[in-house]
Amino acid sequence: MNYYSINNQLSFFVFFKFTISMSTIYTNSIKSYIPNSKTMESLSRQIALAILAHANPSEGFQIYLKGDLGTGKTTFVRSFLQEYGVQGKIKSPSYSLLESYTISNLEIHHFDFYRFSKPDEWINAGFRDLLNENSIILLEWPEKADGYLPNPDLSIHLEYFNSGRNATLIPKTMRGKKWLQAIALRIC
Ligand SMILES: Nc1ncnc2c1ncn2[C@@H]1O[C@H](COP(=O)(O)OP(=O)(O)OP(=O)(O)O)[C@@H](O)[C@H]1O
Ligand SMILES: [Mg+2]
Repeated sequence: MNYYSINNQLSFFVFFKFTISMSTIYTNSIKSYIPNSKTMESLSRQIALAILAHANPSEGFQIYLKGDLGTGKTTFVRSFLQEYGVQGKIKSPSYSLLESYTISNLEIHHFDFYRFSKPDEWINAGFRDLLNENSIILLEWPEKADGYLPNPDLSIHLEYFNSGRNATLIPKTMRGKKWLQAIALRIC
């Protein structure tokens, strides 16, 4: 991984920018170019390790993955789940909408909302009870439920760029902001 930037927007709208070796550092987000799927897997594992080191093991959290079709959301989630201890085949929820796992008494739900055509359809699908703060939620296509979902701890935006992808990590909670610092230390 050769380019990372951490975006730091100070409250009085002045951007503070500095450079640590090859990395450009800001503070409210990290943007990085991910040249191939192996690097995507590696980024995901580093993020999972940073969260594992900081999250309370009995507490759930929410990560949303935004991006066009094929930008690598499921690739990211697979490696994340493996780092969390999920073994065996990890299926994409593209058709099933939801794949669930249990690790150390913690429920993990991997959603894909692509097939929803109305923002509140996930509620009718009975997902409201599963999308709670006691579970780990990894959700692809939150755009499909815009305005109806709770805030995640971390929002990950994936975009096509050259032959790879750009990934932007945006924390949405205090907990997410703490993770971002830990993630920066791992990947910069
Ligand atoms: N950084 C990357 N650079 C190039 N190819 C990548 C990268 N990350 C993932 N890929 C590849 O992109 C393809 C699509 O990945 P994936 O299925 O994870 O996308 P997705 O965002 O989950 O798609 P969907 O929106 O259909 O659910 C896979 O072949 C994967 O190996
Ligand atoms: Mg997918």
